[in-house]
Amino acid sequence: MKSLTDGNGGMREGLFLSVEGIDGSGKTTAIGELDRRLVDAGYRTLLLREPGGTAIGEDVRKTLLDPRHGDMDPLCELLLFAAARAQLVAGVVRPALAAGMVVICDRFTDSTLAYQGYGRGLDLDMIRRVNRIATGGLMPRRTLLLDLDPELAACRLVGRPGAGPDRIDAENRAFAERVRAGYLTLAREESDRIVTIAADRSIREVVDRMHETLREDLP
Ligand code: ADP
Ligand code: TYD
Repeated sequence: MKSLTDGNGGMREGLFLSVEGIDGSGKTTAIGELDRRLVDAGYRTLLLREPGGTAIGEDVRKTLLDPRHGDMDPLCELLLFAAARAQLVAGVVRPALAAGMVVICDRFTDSTLAYQGYGRGLDLDMIRRVNRIATGGLMPRRTLLLDLDPELAACRLVGRPGAGPDRIDAENRAFAERVRAGYLTLAREESDRIVTIAADRSIREVVDRMHETLREDLP
């Protein structure tokens, strides 16, 4: 198994990646396929999802996605996402990176800027501060943004096995448009980190492009 080493026999800090995009853009599918390729190439990987990835995070996820909580205050929502993230970073991400693993997170801090900021209208600087507190400043080395028209994403979600609409999936199309536009703005502002990938292609083409993008990050 390949761990990330520093070339002198010592262990190097692992590689932290995040994958972002609107609901139904194909993140979960693509991450599974990308992971298979990395494992086949000998990397030790860890797949995580937000909110979730820890026992506490999965409980917070249930609260966040519960359709009964349709009246959740946006600030409460923001802080619950941040709480789940704090647990994930401290309890799972940092130890895995210290062990030299490739950590792939299905959503991270950009989701909060895109959904709670551009989607719900909370102040972006306030969200950045909350994100920094939750993560202690840890950021992905590379973020892959799967960009897809919300209409196409909605068609895909209707076909997803076992997934009824959850509270957030059920938000209107205008919300998804704002989130998508927000993501594209973030990608323009942070073009060193965030790479936009057209997600209206076959799964194989999308994963090929993700894999290519990571070549310079993977030793
Ligand atoms: P996300 O995790 O971004 O919400 P999923 O990976 O769950 O998206 O994909 C949503 C649905 O779209 C699933 O039914 C999946 O099989 C399908 N799907 C994913 N990627 C593609 C693709 N490139 N082309 C067509 N359908 C796709
Ligand atoms: P999930 O079922 O994981 O969606 P997907 O499969 O598309 O990733 O649900 C997570 C939902 O939570 C999704 O609608 C995005 C939203 N979300 C936020 O609003 N803010 C955040 O910070 C995060 C991490 C997720």
